[in-house]
Amino acid sequence: MSRLEGKVALVTGAASGIGEETVRHFTASGAFVVAADVQDELGQQVVQSIGSEKLTYHHCDVRDEKQVEATVNYTLEKHGKLDVLFSNAGIIGPLTSIIELDLDGFDDTIATNVRGVAATFKHAARAMVARGTRGSLICTASVSASLGGTGPHAYSVSKHALVGLVRTACSELGAHGIRVNCVSPYGVATPLSCRAYSLRPEEVEANSAAAANLKGVTLKARHVAEAALFLASDESEYVSGHNLVVDGGFTVVAHSNSAGELVKEGGWKLDWGGATELPAAQRWTKVWSSPHPHAYLSQCAQGRHFGSAEFARVGDCGLGSAIEGRGKEGGK
Ligand SMILES: NC(=O)c1ccc[n+]([C@@H]2O[C@H](COP(=O)([O-])OP(=O)(O)OC[C@H]3O[C@@H](n4cnc5c(N)ncnc54)[C@H](O)[C@@H]3O)[C@@H](O)[C@H]2O)c1
Repeated sequence: MSRLEGKVALVTGAASGIGEETVRHFTASGAFVVAADVQDELGQQVVQSIGSEKLTYHHCDVRDEKQVEATVNYTLEKHGKLDVLFSNAGIIGPLTSIIELDLDGFDDTIATNVRGVAATFKHAARAMVARGTRGSLICTASVSASLGGTGPHAYSVSKHALVGLVRTACSELGAHGIRVNCVSPYGVATPLSCRAYSLRPEEVEANSAAAANLKGVTLKARHVAEAALFLASDESEYVSGHNLVVDGGFTVVAHSNSAGELVKEGGWKLDWGGATELPAAQRWTKVWSSPHPHAYLSQCAQGRHFGSAEFARVGDCGLGSAIEGRGKEGGK
């Protein structure tokens, strides 16, 4: 029997990346799915490629509670119930340093990644409680929910908040038989990660693989979708309040931030004054533990400091992604 046979699921951020892949897994497992997103054209394309008997699309900007409520109501009108919510819509937000923090961007990131998920939990849980549905609420957090330095500031804050939201919603909704969990992926090549760092999918994957703990397998959106499918299905019947990391162990092993090995002859310091070639004694290179090291390259390209160090260049050193620079953060 299919794992979601007869179940009705609502997926946000469903037009692209992890959400789209999850919609494919849910429908292939027997669920009727409502896909919600702000990218209407892409959302409709997903419906066309899967089939409108299994999947419908509904526009929903999760920052707007009225749209969230209308999307849940649409799901109920169409299917009569809601069993599973995969609240996955998210943005990366501003990539700026904490000392240059873009607070409008910060607010928008929280509005999308936290308020948006809270709104979907609210209206989905309401529908489940009213109908006595023993449902499953799932959201997408990140490795950035438990490890600093693996994503931009607003993004990391938002993902930490989701783990809190999962726990607090779990504490209330258990009485109704509703389970609440999140999935926390490591770096996956999706439009979000490619656009943020101006990289091709294979470059995102190479960076992730270089800093990964688990070698020999490349993290794909389907791995995250499979974790979401487990949490959506009755196979996880007694799992609630859990942060299911899909990271090959990345967040539970130590990562050295100063594994310095000088691999290049050249070295530059980039600061507000522009680029200056460094004397050899001031150069250092480190293997960066972030799955998204190119964030730092973006900062450099904009001539910005990141954290407490000044970085100049990203390259491959065979051990992972390497950054040359100098600063307080463990220079050579
Ligand atoms: N790609 C990664 O490396 C990675 C790692 C960890 C967690 N995540 C999380 O996975 C989730 C999905 O991201 P993805 O990587 O598939 O990126 P993606 O950009 O491919 O998909 C995100 C989707 O969310 C939608 N969205 C954005 N703002 C929205 C809003 N206000 N209302 C409704 N929809 C909105 C976008 O239109 C897009 O279709 C996000 O929550 C992201 O933070 C991604």
